[in-house]
Order: sequence, then C-alpha cells, then structure tokens
Amino acid sequence: MNDTNKIILKIKDLEVLYATRMGLVKAVDKVDLELKRGQTLGLVGESGCGKSTLGFSILRLIPPPGRIIGGEIIFDSADLVKKTEKEMRNIRGKRISMIFQDPMTCLNPLMRIGDHIVETILTHEKKLNKKDAIKIAEDLVVKLGISKLRLDDYPHQFSGGMRQRAMISLALALNSDLIIADEPTTSLDVIVEAQILDLLKELRSSYKLTIILITHNMGVVSELVDRIAIMYAGKIVEIADCFPLFEKPLHPYTVGLLKSIPNISLEKQELEIMPGSPPDLINLPTGCRFHPRCKNVMKKCSLYEPPLKEVKENHLVRCWLY
Ligand SMILES: Nc1ncnc2c1ncn2[C@@H]1O[C@H](COP(=O)(O)OP(=O)(O)OP(=O)(O)O)[C@@H](O)[C@H]1O
Ligand SMILES: [Mg+2]
Repeated sequence: MNDTNKIILKIKDLEVLYATRMGLVKAVDKVDLELKRGQTLGLVGESGCGKSTLGFSILRLIPPPGRIIGGEIIFDSADLVKKTEKEMRNIRGKRISMIFQDPMTCLNPLMRIGDHIVETILTHEKKLNKKDAIKIAEDLVVKLGISKLRLDDYPHQFSGGMRQRAMISLALALNSDLIIADEPTTSLDVIVEAQILDLLKELRSSYKLTIILITHNMGVVSELVDRIAIMYAGKIVEIADCFPLFEKPLHPYTVGLLKSIPNISLEKQELEIMPGSPPDLINLPTGCRFHPRCKNVMKKCSLYEPPLKEVKENHLVRCWLY
C-alpha cells in the first residue's frame, strides 16, 4: 500500500462545466494529471483559471451549477467519476481530505477544537476508545505547534494560523492518502504563512504525505512541491518537476509568472508585470488561449490549439514554440 512511485491519482480528459445565465463556463477543459504516492504537486495559475474547480472535482464536491461532463479521475485504481454519492462519502475525509483558505468553513464554531479532532478520529477509527483518541489528538496538536491546553478552546479563540494548524491536524488524524490544500495560506500574514509552509514541508517528509497544493503564488510552491502544473483558462499549459520548471520554464505564460514574483531568480532580472488579463471563459480566444497576451505569438497560434507535448523527459508544454 505504501510503495512510493505508485500512481495514486490519474486524471484523464477531465471536463467540468458551469451552466450559468451568461453561458457555459468550461472551468476544467480536458485536463490530464498524474500524481505518485508521496509526491507534492503544485497547481498554479491566475484567479479564475479553474484550480479550485479541479480540486473540488476530485472530491466530487463541485458547487452547483457545476458538473463533470467528461473524463476520468482514477484514484487508487477506481474511477471516482463513476462512484455513487454514498461511496464518495466514505472516500471524502478518510481517503482524500481538503484544507481550505478559510478553516472556519470546516470547523464547527460551537465545538471545542479538541472535541472536533477526537470526534473525527473516532468516526474514522471505529476500534479506538475515547481515551486513545484524546491521546492521539494531544500528540498530534503538539507536533503541529499547538499547546495541549488549547484543545478546550473554540475555533474563534484561535488565530488564523492556529486554525489552519488545527485543520491540518484533522487531515493528519484521518491519515488520508491524499490531501488537497486550496490556497491554505492566502488569508494569513507573511510570517504566519511562512510558518505554515515550513510545517507542511516538515510534515510532508515525516508523514510521507501526498499533497495537491493549489495556489496563485509561484513563490509559495517553489520550496514545497516536487512537481508543478501551470493552469491557464481551464487547461494545463505546462507541467514539470519543480527544479527544471524554475530553471528553464518553457511556456511564455510560465515565464511571465516567474518574472512577476520577487525572490525567485531567473538569473538577475527586473520584476515584470504580465500584460493583459486572463480570458473570459465564456468567450475564449481561438487557437491557443494565451495568444492575445503572448510575447512570442505566431500566426498559427490564433488558428490552432497546441497539444500538451512532452518536449523533455517529464516536462510537458502546450505551445507551438516547441
Ligand atoms: N459556482 C459557480 N457558478 C458559476 N461559475 C463558477 C462557479 N464557480 C466557479 N465558476 C467559474 O469557473 C471558473 C473557475 O473558477 P475557480 O474558482 O475554479 O478558479 P480558481 O482558479 O480557483 O480561482 P481563484 O484563484 O480565484 O480561487 C471561473 O471562471 C469562475 O467564474
Ligand atoms: Mg480557487
């Protein structure tokens, strides 16, 4: 069960549609993605490109009016798209858990943090008694930098950073095979953000976690992930291991993203702001969706959509330059 290199998640041709009054929004458009056990994948892209929708589809929790209209999500050899709601309820939480930007959405405000963790443990580990569960909860929060004494607190008595630690402890208590973290540090100040990222980094190796980290911030992923998928207007435009991607990004969009963040050096460079804004998903440009903003645009780019192509080992890009 715990062998690394085993592919735990394989998404194939996934399509997710929101039918809105303004028109059809294809938030996830034929996405292919693969994740090995123990790997951390960063899913990066500008606001509205479909990152959260992709994350929620894995749990089959897309908010209405969204729905999966095609493709497969193979998790541990079974297609989640074909599972019944009842089967999904056994997978959510236990096998796959999600950490959100705002932990208050998941923590019951009327329940003490400790009871929350203990109850979560007891729901999923039916053989344990309450005393054992309390001990596990205590050990867990201490490991995450929260004093045992604070387990009697209610969520509102916790700071944002502590609430996020509590959320992470819930995911660990469940011993999930896959954790999807959607902008887990976006609402925190930079110092607390750095602490939480350090914590995730440490836990990732000590617990051998498999994580999908969703963020619009390239700086956040740079130290934490093994592999990065860059998403633009519903499609994956580049996917590669972290180091080669930062060393030599191929897609002009990725290059632009990297140039727009401080502290990450593409050698010595000026900080640049990427011109333009992402397209309206209801009125997509023809050909390559990025072509109206692209510095390297060619005639072909507005006519034909490029395929996602492996141009170097394990480095795929969707661009006519390659
Ligand atoms: N409930 C909804 N109804 C209609 N359209 C939606 C809904 N949720 C998302 N969308 C649309 O789907 C697209 C993708 O949204 P999504 O929230 O997945 O993007 P995101 O990359 O997570 O953005 P952000 O970085 O702002 O969180 C957007 O165009 C958005 O307007
Ligand atoms: Mg989002």
